[in-house]
Amino acid sequence: MYARSAQFYDPLYRSMGKDYGAEARAVRELIEARRRSPGKALLDAACGTGLHLAHFREWYECEGIDVDRSMLSIAAGRLPGVRLHCMDMIGFHLDRKFDAIVSMFGSVGYLPNAGRLDQVVRDMARHLQPGGVIVIEPWIAPELWQDGTVSALFVDEPDLKISRMSVSRRDGNISILNFHFTIAQRDGIRTFTEPHRMTLFTDAEYRRAFEAAGLAVEHDAAGVNGRGLYIGTKPL
Ligand SMILES: C[S@@+](CC[C@H](N)C(=O)[O-])C[C@H]1O[C@@H](n2cnc3c(N)ncnc32)[C@H](O)[C@@H]1O
Repeated sequence: MYARSAQFYDPLYRSMGKDYGAEARAVRELIEARRRSPGKALLDAACGTGLHLAHFREWYECEGIDVDRSMLSIAAGRLPGVRLHCMDMIGFHLDRKFDAIVSMFGSVGYLPNAGRLDQVVRDMARHLQPGGVIVIEPWIAPELWQDGTVSALFVDEPDLKISRMSVSRRDGNISILNFHFTIAQRDGIRTFTEPHRMTLFTDAEYRRAFEAAGLAVEHDAAGVNGRGLYIGTKPL
C-alpha cells in the first residue's frame, strides 16, 4: 500500500504542518477524561511511521500494529523499545489487553466494507480492559466527499523535493486517490503512481460498529484534524 512512498510519508505531512504532538495531547485528554481502567497500556492500530506513538509513549506503555512493513520499519527506527507488530488489524490478536486503543488519520478508511469495520471495532473492544477507551479518527464522510477535487502536497527540503498530486474520484462508497509522485533527490528524479482506495463510511456505520461491540459511543465533531473523532468507552 505504502511500499514505495513510506520513506516520504513524514516529509509530506511535515510540509503541511501536521502537528502529531498536539494531536496526541488532545487525544490523551479525551482518553483521560473517560478512562476508568487502572492501567496505562495503549495500542495504536495502523500506527504508520509511529509519529503519534512517539508522543503517546511519554504517558503510556505503548504498542503498535500496522500491516505495511515499510511504514512499520520507520516506526521501529523511531521507537526503540516499543513493541511493534506487522499485522493486519482485520482479525488482529495480541496476548494482552489495553486501557486505550487509538486508530488515527483515517486509517480505518482502508477497511473495504462495513462488515470489516464492525469486525475491527469488535476486535478492538475484545482487547480493551473494562473502563478502557477507543478513539478512532474516521476517514471522510460520504456527504463531505467532493469528486474531482484537485489536491497537491509539495516538499521543499534541501536534498528532497516532492510533488504528490491527485484528482479525487468515487466509485459508490469507495473513494479513489491515485497519488502521482515526482521525487527529486541527489541521485536523480523518479516518478510513480500509488493508488489508495478508502471506504466512505457513514456516521451510522461508525456508531453501529461501536454499539455492536458493546461500547458507549460519542462523536467529537471537532476532532484533531477536522474529521472528527469517534470515542468508545467499555463499561466497567
Ligand atoms: C494514513 S496512514 C496513517 C498512519 C498513522 N496512524 C498516522 O496518523 O500517521 C494509514 C495507515 O494505515 C495502515 N493500514 C491500512 N490498512 C490497515 C490494516 N488493515 N491493518 C493495519 N494497518 C493498516 C497503513 O499501512 C498506513 O500505515
